[in-house]
Amino acid sequence: MNPNVRPETMARITTPALANAFIEEQIAAVRAQVGDKKVLLALSGGVDSSVVAALLIKAIGKQLVCVHVNHGLMRKNESENVVEVFQNQLDANLIYVDATDRFLDLLAGVSDPERKRKIIGAEFINVFVDEARKLEGIEYLAQGTIYPDILESIKQAEGKKAVKSHHNVGGLPEDLKFELVEPIKLLYKDEVRVVGEALGLPHAMVYRQPFPGPGLGVRCLGAITRDRLHALREADAILREEFDLNGLAEKVWQYFVVSPDIKSVGVKDDSRYEGWPAIIRAVNTKDAMSATIEEIPYAVLHKITARITNEVEGINRVLYDLTPKPTGTIEWE
Ligand code: XMP
Repeated sequence: MNPNVRPETMARITTPALANAFIEEQIAAVRAQVGDKKVLLALSGGVDSSVVAALLIKAIGKQLVCVHVNHGLMRKNESENVVEVFQNQLDANLIYVDATDRFLDLLAGVSDPERKRKIIGAEFINVFVDEARKLEGIEYLAQGTIYPDILESIKQAEGKKAVKSHHNVGGLPEDLKFELVEPIKLLYKDEVRVVGEALGLPHAMVYRQPFPGPGLGVRCLGAITRDRLHALREADAILREEFDLNGLAEKVWQYFVVSPDIKSVGVKDDSRYEGWPAIIRAVNTKDAMSATIEEIPYAVLHKITARITNEVEGINRVLYDLTPKPTGTIEWE
């Protein structure tokens, strides 16, 4: 039996009871696999790595070492939340690395999207490797691989071309080749969420909208600067808050703010005020291959516009992107 093929007899995990049975099964499997050895996990705060972390904390407690790399491109309060949930609530063995300066220094002046992605992906590995080398006795690497990832790599191996390079942890140097622990690799995303809730993770974390690995790095268009990145993060937090308050968070698959590297003339307090625009993107999709635009009530758009232009230093206009995919991709870069 190929361990990377989901057996046809495997029931879809749709209920807490099925999730609990899966969790018990995986706890036993992980314990049998790793014994008393240590396991390393790159914990991004995304659904998949969070569910793996919670599962492994249950299975092997402090034998799991989680590393959270804050690349400075996270959304507002995201890294703080990872520390709160895993270190404070779940008592995880968590190493928090604030690598903001490393990433932003490397990205200074770089405007090509694919180069930005490559820099972020490579530096992520560098920071992770630096941390891994400081640790002793690690023999295993846990990963939040899920079934669509396996299906996607099969497709890529068959020579189908990707539109954008999506990065995950991979490509570790030879001396750090660990044996893999991938407890959710046969699960689909909806099942991962059911398992996450059964593990007691916060609802907001389990139902978090997808967020690209390079984070705000591909939403702060062109060459990233700290001031524009800060403005983008604040505007994005307002958008998310208003979507939550207005019941849109459950209806819209992905919603975020994009910051183009242009300025326009505006007026504030009777004076000329040059600022950046904030572009709102809110899309629905089944598989991210194509996407439609969600109709957001004008009242909500007005409220978001008023809040962003009043509360965020440096932004003087708000635009709403009506482009489906195709022709636009979901992200702007
Ligand atoms: P696009 O922009 O290609 O996005 O329509 C499709 C989905 O993929 C996400 N995305 C990424 N995810 N690394 C990731 O992990 C990336 O570099 C990346 N680029 C896009 C995007 O947010 C959307 O959900």
